[in-house]
Amino acid sequence: MYDYDMRVSMNFARGLAEILAEYTGMPQDELEIAIETPPDSKMGHFAFPCFGLAKEAKKAPPAIASDLAEKIEASRPDWLGQAVATGAYVNFFLNRAAFASNVLFDVLEGGEGYGADGEGLGQAVIVEYSSPNIAKHFHVGHLGTTIIGKVIDNVYRFLGYEVTSINHLGDWGTQFGKLITAYKKWGSREEIEKTEIEGLVKLYVKFHEEADKDASLNDEARSWVIKMQDGDEESLEIWRWFCDLSMKEFNRVYDRLDIIFDSITGESFYNGQMEAVAEILENKGLLKESEGAKIVDLEEWNMPPSLILRRDGGTLYTTRDIAAAIYRYETYEFNKCLYVTGNEQSLHFAQWMKVVELMGYPWSGGLEHVPYGMYLFESGKMSTRRGDVIKVEDLLDEAVAKTLAIINEKNPELLNKERVAEQVGVGALKFGKLYNSRIKDTVFDWDRMLNFEGETGPYVQYTHARACSVLRKSLSADSNMDFGALGVALITGTTFDSSILDDDEAFDVLRILHDFPAKVVDCAEKYEPFIIARHMVALAQAYNTFYTKHQILVDDEPTRRARLALTAAVRTVLKTGLGLLGIAAPAVM
Ligand code: ARG
Repeated sequence: MYDYDMRVSMNFARGLAEILAEYTGMPQDELEIAIETPPDSKMGHFAFPCFGLAKEAKKAPPAIASDLAEKIEASRPDWLGQAVATGAYVNFFLNRAAFASNVLFDVLEGGEGYGADGEGLGQAVIVEYSSPNIAKHFHVGHLGTTIIGKVIDNVYRFLGYEVTSINHLGDWGTQFGKLITAYKKWGSREEIEKTEIEGLVKLYVKFHEEADKDASLNDEARSWVIKMQDGDEESLEIWRWFCDLSMKEFNRVYDRLDIIFDSITGESFYNGQMEAVAEILENKGLLKESEGAKIVDLEEWNMPPSLILRRDGGTLYTTRDIAAAIYRYETYEFNKCLYVTGNEQSLHFAQWMKVVELMGYPWSGGLEHVPYGMYLFESGKMSTRRGDVIKVEDLLDEAVAKTLAIINEKNPELLNKERVAEQVGVGALKFGKLYNSRIKDTVFDWDRMLNFEGETGPYVQYTHARACSVLRKSLSADSNMDFGALGVALITGTTFDSSILDDDEAFDVLRILHDFPAKVVDCAEKYEPFIIARHMVALAQAYNTFYTKHQILVDDEPTRRARLALTAAVRTVLKTGLGLLGIAAPAVM
């Protein structure tokens, strides 16, 4: 848990808004929104446009700007370096030393809670993600939701929301009738036990081959589905076994991705609630018959009808989603319930969420689909036909093997090479998915993901390890002080002088550190992990520029202390940021 009282961050935009409110009489929160960040910090660190005020005062904007700048200059607080009018803007320059001590104090005192502003306290959020399908491999089609969903899960927790992560496994539906049929006809328990999902996939393929020749197999499969729905023990026993086997592979993947769900409730969980859903819909006059099936007509909203019950009495993916939403509200009273899935399911979510809205549930506005783009491989779209899919386990192995090869070349003496390769390889794969707006497709490219100098996971991890190494060197060999405590010690000493950090390179680093909490909030609001991912790259780049230009472990005590404090703050924020992205931050690599 994060300590929300630790966050003392001075928000400079807010500070400026407070001053501006005094002179303009405008509400402070409106002013805060109006404050801009100039594209080039040589123009100022913040800018306030005076067009709006000018309209009201019936004066030219530049006149208002210079009037305001003059008044602010006359009694400006320590942390503000200068207020100047430039055209229609008042440009503000921060006092660098004051800014530096403020930011460093916030980051280092805040430690791993820096940025955790507690905005979500008292609010419940459900993040549903991953949700692979039983009896199919954990393939690349579920990798995006797993990586992105985990970040949203982390970020909401970090901000103090009460998060429940749910894995809505695809463990119910017609495919299980086919599988049971195939298993009873051609399956061997030992063989499947040994090969896990592979064996089940083979059975599934075999079923389709045989059903092409003998259509009666389909009837048999359907009858197994009805039996399962009615609680028939024989079918359920086999089905449970399929689930357990599949979970072995899924859990290996979750272990490596460092993911634990609060709740694994698959579609089967809602089997008993199908009739109740249909009944509510019936009572509300929403259900219609159509060719023997039951549907909800959505023509008025320009969508195809939502299919609720099949003609043969079989239940559907959609109906289970409706039941799950109702169950989740009753169980968790969520403020928001998020569904992270591929954008190819957007229509499905729009349809059933509309149905829930029509049912009149006041909480339906809290349901939100969070779609994302797919992976593109050079060989074209990944194939899911007839079982030849790209398995996530294989991708993980490949990522790690390639990383190990790079380590063997760059740093063959590294201790725990295998472990670091796992952390960096898996991190690279995750970061590759997180670096762009989630809706964009991701072109799969190992060389780009694993480029230690690129805008990548390894680059950010490497910079973190570099900061750790600098800090380690500053400690005596027998010291066992951790870096968090070291950071606090650095700024609380009497020789700490933040005015040393007034160069452009340090200032760039400090600005990025200062903006981190706002970026986390922005990421949460937009469900966009790239906002944090890119901020981490920017921080790493800025720190590396600082590192190249300024020696840190110099003899002069105040200089050394100030630069080390900056380094300690960078380490803290890189670690937190990587953590939110679900990526490990090894101290050596
Ligand atoms: N198992 C589904 C699939 O692989 C994804 C489930 C998404 N979640 C949901 N509530 N429908 O397509």
